[in-house]
Amino acid sequence: MAYGSDAARFLLGDSFHPGGVELTIELAGMLNLTPGSIMLDVASGKGTSAFAVAERFRCHVIGVDLSEANVAEANTEALKRGLSDGVQFLLADAEELPFEPASFDAILCECAFCTFPNKTKAASEFARVLRAGGRVGISDLTRVPDPLPELDGLLAWIACIGDAQPLESYAAWLVGAGFAVVASGDRSQCLQQMVQQIQGKLLLADIMIGLKKLDLPGLDIKQAKEFAAVAKNAIGNNKLGYALLVAQKPEGSVTEGAVG
Ligand SMILES: C[S@@+](CC[C@H](N)C(=O)[O-])C[C@H]1O[C@@H](n2cnc3c(N)ncnc32)[C@H](O)[C@@H]1O
Repeated sequence: MAYGSDAARFLLGDSFHPGGVELTIELAGMLNLTPGSIMLDVASGKGTSAFAVAERFRCHVIGVDLSEANVAEANTEALKRGLSDGVQFLLADAEELPFEPASFDAILCECAFCTFPNKTKAASEFARVLRAGGRVGISDLTRVPDPLPELDGLLAWIACIGDAQPLESYAAWLVGAGFAVVASGDRSQCLQQMVQQIQGKLLLADIMIGLKKLDLPGLDIKQAKEFAAVAKNAIGNNKLGYALLVAQKPEGSVTEGAVG
């Protein structure tokens, strides 16, 4: 299932992560944002989090995403909301951020770090573009390290879960890039709620498709219902979850490339 598909939008809405905007505001609240701060939203999707953070904390936000369609849609929405002076979106890869060293006061990265093929590179890019003393906030899917054969079908369907990691691994990538972890928290209940909402929407979709009032090409409802049930079980058994992680770039640390 692609994030940009009609099926994804029907099932997930515009905020493509567990906990929605509420969890975004909680996480952003730990990033020491002040009016005028500049925050980078890495993998900003359709911009939902960027708009919420800019409005709540009166800060500037630059979002980057690898999907051209998401970037275009987010910039159009910024214009519509009259926010395009303070909130902008660019097409860019988290592993090669097109910014000067120490350009940002804070970084947000929601439900996306797990998908980056080279997490060491992404973490070092976060460290490079963040100023000393700045914070990065990640929320992401977590899983136990043991093999989970019961999730194979689900993992193949929603690719990002396939590379979910234990929380300790995300922390290790950030620490490896020079960050100090300042907070973390389990938010698996947000993932459980998201799966329950998806189950409700699948029931509704089933009825509406039967009545020929909805068409979601490419979505196998029966299979999706089975995957949702498997996911719910795995979350209930603490095999799959969702977590927050906040880390700080030490004050006085030298940013590679910033000297000379
Ligand atoms: C699950 S969505 C999360 C979107 C948004 N952060 C949110 O929480 O609503 C994952 C997003 O990551 C983007 N993405 C995946 N790999 C990326 C990369 N290497 N660099 C930038 N964005 C990437 C996708 O295009 C997609 O918009």
